Parts: sequence; C-alpha cells; structure tokens
Amino acid sequence: MERSAEPELMDEPQQVAAYAAADFSLAHEQLLFHLRTLWQGPAPTCSIDLGTGTGDIAMRLARAYPGCHVTAVDAGAVMLRQAAQLIALAGLAERISLVQRHLPDITGLPHVPLLVSNSLLHHLPDPMILWRVLPRLACPGALAVIMDLRRPRCMEELEQLVLRHAAADPPILQNDFRASLHAAYTCDEVAAQLREAALPLTVDAIGDRHWIASGRLQRGG
Ligand SMILES: C[S@@+](CC[C@H](N)C(=O)[O-])C[C@H]1O[C@@H](n2cnc3c(N)ncnc32)[C@H](O)[C@@H]1O
Repeated sequence: MERSAEPELMDEPQQVAAYAAADFSLAHEQLLFHLRTLWQGPAPTCSIDLGTGTGDIAMRLARAYPGCHVTAVDAGAVMLRQAAQLIALAGLAERISLVQRHLPDITGLPHVPLLVSNSLLHHLPDPMILWRVLPRLACPGALAVIMDLRRPRCMEELEQLVLRHAAADPPILQNDFRASLHAAYTCDEVAAQLREAALPLTVDAIGDRHWIASGRLQRGG
C-alpha cells in the first residue's frame, strides 16, 4: 500500500481531548517492556521523550524509574497544556519537564543516556529529522528506543486493524488511527532510513501493528 502523509501536528482541541481520553496502555507498555529488557546497570537518572503528546509514555517512564527525570518534548501548545494537566493530576510535575520544541529545533535540550519516542516518526515531514536529532541529544552510548505503527500491506488489512483495535473508539480517534496507519513506515523503510543516518539501531516488527527500533548511539552531539 502506498504511504500517504498526515498532518504533522495534532493540536486541534477536539483531537487532543480524544487522544487524552484514549487508552494506549497496551501499546505503550510494549515500549516500556522493550526498554526494561535493554537497559542494563543502574537505573537512568534522566531521559527524553520526543513527541510526547499527552505525556503518557513520559509518565510510565517516570513511574518505572523513580529516580529518573523526564524531559518531554512536543511542538503542540494545546497538546502540551493537556499533558501538563494529566502530569499534575498524576503527581509527577516535579519529575517531568514539558518543553515546547518543533524538531529539528532542539535548543536547550539536555544530553541524556536514554531517548524514547512513540508515534512521532510518521508525523514528520521528513523522517530523517528524528534520526538526525537522536545522536545530537545522546550522551555517548545512550540507549534509544523508538516505536511507531507499521503500514499495513493493503486497505483490507488496515480496516481489519481499525476493527480490531479501535471499534469502540469515537470516530475522531478511528479516523486518526486510519490516517496514522496510512502514514506509517514499514520495517524495510525504517531500516533504510537508519542506514542513511548511519545509526546502529535495529528495527523489529512487534505485535500486529508496530515496529521498535533500538540500540546504543555511539556519538554525543
Ligand atoms: C501521535 S502523537 C504521539 C504522542 C505520544 N508519543 C504517544 O505515543 O501517545 C505525535 C506527537 O508528535 C508531535 N509532533 C509532530 N511533529 C513534531 C515535531 N516536529 N516536533 C515535536 N513534536 C512533534 C505532535 O504534536 C503529537 O503530539
């Protein structure tokens, strides 16, 4: 199936509210599981979540590693306001800094030993934006765990995924899911992007609709 891009930012109030009300726990815990498997040694003390949206993964990260400060980055002002409310409600405001940056602008962001991102890549006008930013934010040897949807082979497969995972969701979320699956990259495309960026990450399909790219970044920025 041909890829078709979707708008870069998700910052319409209705869309943000629907996203905040959705339950992404299964998918997001997959990322955390993968991260826990790969992280070795003392727990990380700081990390960055790129394209944090409503901050759900940043909060899961902060809970998984109680000594870890998370810098949660997003370009959307409405999205960040929603994230701030949810993070305050969860009592995690002192552990998570919300920062508005439109990548590739990374002005003032720290170098960290752990970088995560979920469902950002397929929103970017150029996927190399994410792959080029990662090493610039990494301490030498930093672990990167990047997850996103993978594009189905055909419309029939896409509609089956919408039925399986979003049948009970409001139409606005169903349409977002459909558009995201259409805009997502395949594992082969991600592998080619990683080669182009000369990043030592490996990409694997997980479950019926995601890929995870992970590995150690060799250079700082
Ligand atoms: C589909 S949401 C994913 C949110 C979150 N990571 C999650 O998994 O729930 C993608 C997010 O990326 C943000 N985004 C898109 N392009 C961006 C850019 N160039 N810089 C920073 N954030 C961006 C959007 O505003 C949106 O909040």
